[in-house]
Amino acid sequence: MTKILPEKIERVGIIGAGVIGGAWAAHFMRHGMRVKIYDPDPAAPAQFETRLQNTIMPTLEKLGMKTGASAANITFVSTLEQAVAAAQFVQENTPERLPIKIATLQAIDAAAPAETIIASSTSGYLMSEMAINLQHPERCVVAHPFNPVYLMPVVEVVAGPDTSDEAHQWAVDFYRYTGKQPLKLTKEVPGFVADRLMEAVLREALHMIDNDMATVEEIDMAVRYGPGLRWALMGPLTVLHLAGGEGGMAHCINQFGPSLAAPWTFLPAPELTDSLAQKVVDGCERLTENTPIAEMEAERDQLLIALLAMLEKSKLWHIGNRAEKATR
Ligand SMILES: NC(=O)c1ccc[n+]([C@@H]2O[C@H](COP(=O)([O-])OP(=O)(O)OC[C@H]3O[C@@H](n4cnc5c(N)ncnc54)[C@H](O)[C@@H]3O)[C@@H](O)[C@H]2O)c1
Repeated sequence: MTKILPEKIERVGIIGAGVIGGAWAAHFMRHGMRVKIYDPDPAAPAQFETRLQNTIMPTLEKLGMKTGASAANITFVSTLEQAVAAAQFVQENTPERLPIKIATLQAIDAAAPAETIIASSTSGYLMSEMAINLQHPERCVVAHPFNPVYLMPVVEVVAGPDTSDEAHQWAVDFYRYTGKQPLKLTKEVPGFVADRLMEAVLREALHMIDNDMATVEEIDMAVRYGPGLRWALMGPLTVLHLAGGEGGMAHCINQFGPSLAAPWTFLPAPELTDSLAQKVVDGCERLTENTPIAEMEAERDQLLIALLAMLEKSKLWHIGNRAEKATR
């Protein structure tokens, strides 16, 4: 297990340079680290460079770069071993396919120094499913980020059954050092916490689209102009605490408890048929008026910077934000 302090980390290995891996690379580079990336796709370096220059760098410069941080400190290498052999920390970001995760963790485990912590960006696999036949499973954690990684504060840091407490805590401290808001989860919750909540919303949305109860546009409108606006400020439970007036959550539960039993929810996942998938894809294209993704990403980043800066100044935003201190 690494004894190095998080603030002393200089060399990071990134495996997979897509949406998430590329963004982690930029995030760690912004904090002064040198990053080596491996991606088997020959097109990956050029695609990353375009995204870095057009979308990510303008955002990082607004956020502020650590002294000495430079885009030149990110280099692509041609093998996984080259990316991790001297790395003091490794973030795995390969496609969400279990066999790829298992093989990649095995390759990183074999090539990285024994004390180097290895984190996986997986959106839903548990470390107990991915860490198969590793020499050092005690240094592996799930670290599930949110897109765009260099702006969204939360990262869910989840231990597996073989992860050591020291490695788990070190990863939490490391992410916090880089400005993240780590959510330390000691239980292997399927879907972790945030994706589990998002999946519940997605399931309901798909049911309503499938049954022609609501269109893609109506669903996005309902969230954007309704609960989404409040969720930007506080969690869904605090929202209800306030909805209970002076009586807070206790009054809310009294009032709305019976309606929880009403058939508002259809929990089994709908079958993702070709026609449902097509309806959702067409709806998203209509809704976004075919605006190029890069254009929307750039504007989203600017809005997030402004929103985060505003929230940082408010007491509400900081209330209870150390979830690991919460009592159960
Ligand atoms: N996109 C999101 O919003 C999001 C959010 C949180 C977590 N994640 C997770 O992050 C991981 C990566 O997702 P993504 O959205 O960046 O996917 P992506 O498809 O954008 O990128 C995956 C990259 O991995 C590369 N790759 C394929 N096989 C590889 C291998 N064997 N070794 C190294 N690289 C390989 C691909 O060439 C590609 O560049 C997944 O586990 C995903 O669940 C994604």
